[in-house]
Amino acid sequence: MEIKDPRNHFSKENGALSGEKTSKTIRKLKDMKGFYEDEEAFNKMDPETVLYEVEMHAPVKAGTEGGLFFGTSFLNPGKVGEEFFMTKGHFHEIINRAEYYWGLEGEGVLVFMDEDGNASAEKVCPGSLHFVPGKIAHRLVNTGDTKLAVGACWPADAGHQYGPIAESGFGVRIKEKNGTIIAE
Ligand code: F6R
Ligand code: ZN
Repeated sequence: MEIKDPRNHFSKENGALSGEKTSKTIRKLKDMKGFYEDEEAFNKMDPETVLYEVEMHAPVKAGTEGGLFFGTSFLNPGKVGEEFFMTKGHFHEIINRAEYYWGLEGEGVLVFMDEDGNASAEKVCPGSLHFVPGKIAHRLVNTGDTKLAVGACWPADAGHQYGPIAESGFGVRIKEKNGTIIAE
């Protein structure tokens, strides 16, 4: 029997993915209209500003029951007004699907929200491990001065539900005020 060479690679430093069946999604400022509180600051910024990129390894089709996806999210440092750059955030389409996140590079916050709108948050740093239970919306925020890299693994049939977050947000925003990181 032949022992195969691995066809996919995962950087030990920042989780960058390469090889077969990997793809990349880029989210720019213009993709996040309505997500930030300070609309005036948002409108003054370059809409082409890249906020984050997600590299993903998908060995099965989206929707495959029992399959898994593996990804790394890279969030650039920066703010819109006082609010740090963040991901859109989502519930899973099959809402009970859980997920793991783990910190690789940089400093950030993972914000959670249940279906009743109750929010909580955890600090993310290299080596931190975060279990995202089913029925919990999740959003990453880069609170540092450098790129935030965070790994994730989630069920291939989980899907993403962005609508409720686009409409009502997380009930809490991660900001910098007088040099302090706050959730309000
Ligand atoms: C997958 C997952 C992450 C996010 C990524 C981008 O279920 O939670 O891979 O998809 O961090 O965030 P969103 O999808 O909220 O733009
Ligand atoms: Zn998710």
